[in-house]
Order: sequence, then structure tokens, then C-alpha cells
Amino acid sequence: MEKITVGLGERSYPIWIGEGILSRLGEALQAVGFPKKVAVVTNPTVRGLYGAKTLEILAESGFAADTIVIPDGEEYKNQTSLMQIYDGLIAGCFDRSSGLIALGGGVVGDITGFAAATYLRGIPFAQVPTTLLAQVDSSVGGKTAINHPLGKNLIGAFYQPLHVHIDVATLKSLPSREFAAGIAEVIKYGIIRDQDFFNWLGGHRDALSNLEHQALVEAVKRSCQIKANVVEIDEKESSLRAILNFGHTFGHAVETLTGYETFRHGEAVAIGMSVAARISRSLRLCSSEQVVLIDDLLKSFNLPIVPPSLSLEQYLQAMGRDKKVKEGVLRMVVNRGIGDCLIQDVDDPQSLFSSILPDLPN
Ligand code: NAD
Ligand code: GLY
Repeated sequence: MEKITVGLGERSYPIWIGEGILSRLGEALQAVGFPKKVAVVTNPTVRGLYGAKTLEILAESGFAADTIVIPDGEEYKNQTSLMQIYDGLIAGCFDRSSGLIALGGGVVGDITGFAAATYLRGIPFAQVPTTLLAQVDSSVGGKTAINHPLGKNLIGAFYQPLHVHIDVATLKSLPSREFAAGIAEVIKYGIIRDQDFFNWLGGHRDALSNLEHQALVEAVKRSCQIKANVVEIDEKESSLRAILNFGHTFGHAVETLTGYETFRHGEAVAIGMSVAARISRSLRLCSSEQVVLIDDLLKSFNLPIVPPSLSLEQYLQAMGRDKKVKEGVLRMVVNRGIGDCLIQDVDDPQSLFSSILPDLPN
């Protein structure tokens, strides 16, 4: 088993990563002094797969656990599900000496974290992520949120968990498309921070796709370590943390314009990373060969790289609403070669994007 610490002073916490370590959840929670009265928040899919086992493990270690089930799907990451969690906590007499455990993907993790941040002005919570995306990204770093009808993740808080418990064996039940969507974020870490890791991913494509546990543990560990290093420097995204949004400016536009139905988030990010690499090349920050390497790695994991055929005008408008737009200027994360990146103001998005995406319809 691998252990990483997210070093944030008194809010520091461990990440345990291994194969079959769900059985050690009780031990891990005891190690951080987690409350004995807990509610496991999950959805019907994940409860069916890992709910009973998790409750059994918690009971064996002396935890008194209830389960709160919210519906499965991004469309339920909302106020109604949040209220369902509060209702369950109030009905079960959960007080400040109790804690929440998020068992599931990023949707469950984000909403549980926000419930923990706000219930009784804050109670402890732990993340037990079961999708690859949640294991390498959303369970680490303390961004918690629900969606608003007018936009994703608009209501939330920075609130760190007490522990993150990653059992890569849970990935065996994950649909392959969800797995690929998580790999997009893994590739992102290589492009923005670690060329060796990028190369390692290319060499371990088969091992990862075949869910070989040593390769999975290594990929998750290196991803979490990179994310932890960034979050330790800039927890609340006043500067550096924005680099974690590489590929997301264009990716979010793809998601918005296709109504969040055509692409998984990671797939849209894959398209966005390919576009960002082309922008980087046109700014002479990376070579054509490096663009090809990025595209090939994405494609080798069955990720899309070609933007859907929408007009440039639609893309520019959607990107204009990006969170990184400052005083009307579009800011994008662009790669410097492979393994490094920077945040770049884009002065004339119209001509830049039309030069790298000449095939888009008018
Ligand atoms: P998700 O939580 O919807 O999970 C995807 C699907 O996989 C769901 O149907 C889920 O029930 C199912 N599932 C989960 N674990 C499974 C398993 N082991 N086996 C089989 N099925 C399983 O989606 P996601 O991709 O994990 O997360 C997306 C969410 O994460 C979005 O809401 C996004 O905004 C958020 N996010 C947050 C951060 C952050 O820093 N907080 C970062 C990235 C993404
Ligand atoms: N997923 C981006 C971040 O955590 O900042």
C-alpha cells in the first residue's frame, strides 16, 4: 500500500492507495481519530456493489454507521439531494461528534463534502472514491460543491477531508468509458507537471487498460502526489491551482454546448487538451511532434480529440463564460513542451482559434 500526505498544516490528511484496501478502512479512520458515529453517503449503484461490505468493515472496527442514499447521476448533484443528506443526518440525530463518509464517484464525493462543510457549520468527512476520476482528482484537494440550474459547481466550499481511502480494486466494476474518462485527468498531470510520468503512461497503456493493480496504484499515486503538491502551494486557487484546469476551458465549452449528454467530463477534457496543445504549438511553446505524442496517448485510451462540429462563434461564447476569464480577457492553461505549463492570456481568441480549428463550420 502507498501513503501520501496532503500537507496543509493542521488540515493535513493522508491518502491511502492500494489494491483490496477497503478492508482497512476502519483502521485508517481510527488512525485519524474519525468520529465513531458515521453516515455513509452513496448512490444505489455503488451501494449495490460496495455498500454492504463497507458497513461490515466499519462495524468490525467499532463504527456505528447509517447509510444515506442519493440518486445516481450528475443531474442529482443538486439542492434536493443535499437536503436529503441533511434530512437523514437530522433524523439520525447526527451531532458535531459524528462524521460523513463519501462512498462513490465525484458526484457523491462533491455533494457529501459540501454537506459536511455546512451541516452544523462543519463536521469531519472522509472520501472513499470508487471511480478513477474521483481517485485521481475530485477526492483530493477539498473542492466541494453542488450544481445550480444555471451552472456546474456554482455553490460550494473549500473543505478538506480527514482521510482519502483509495482501493483500486473498485475499478474492476467501473464501465470502460468511465475508466477512460478518468485516464484523461491522469494524462493531464503528465502533460502539465511530469514528463517522465507522461512517458510512463505510454509504456503502461496495456497494463492500465487491463487493470493490472500495480500499474493502477502507481498511476493513482503519481496523480495524487502531483495534485497534492499543487494544492499545498495554492489551496484556494488564487494562482497555481488553475493549472489543474488544463484542457478544461475548451472542454467545458464542449460539455456546455452538447448539453452535458454527449461526452463524459474526461472525454471533453481530452478534446480540450488536444486543442490546448495546438494553441501551445501556435504560441511556439511546444513542437508538432509533442502535439502528436499527446494526441496519440489520448487516442490509445480510446479518448476523443476532435471537437464536435459546432461553430467557432458558439465555442468562443461558451469559453467567454469560463471561470478563468478575468476582466474580459480569456486565460488558458497551455503546455510548455510536455511536463510543464503556464497560464496565458489570449488577446485575440477569434483569430487564434480560427487558425487552429479551420474546419469548424461558420
Ligand atoms: P460519477 O460520480 O457520476 O460516477 C460515474 C458513474 O460511475 C456513476 O453512475 C456511478 O454510480 C458509477 N460508479 C461509481 N463507482 C463505480 C464503480 N466502482 N463501479 C461501477 N460503477 C461505479 O462521476 P465521476 O466521473 O466520478 O465524477 C464527476 C463529478 O466529479 C462531477 O460532478 C465533477 O464536477 C466532479 N469533479 C470534482 C472535482 C473536485 O476537485 N472536487 C474534480 C473533478 C471532477
Ligand atoms: N479539479 C481541479 C481542482 O481540483 O482544482
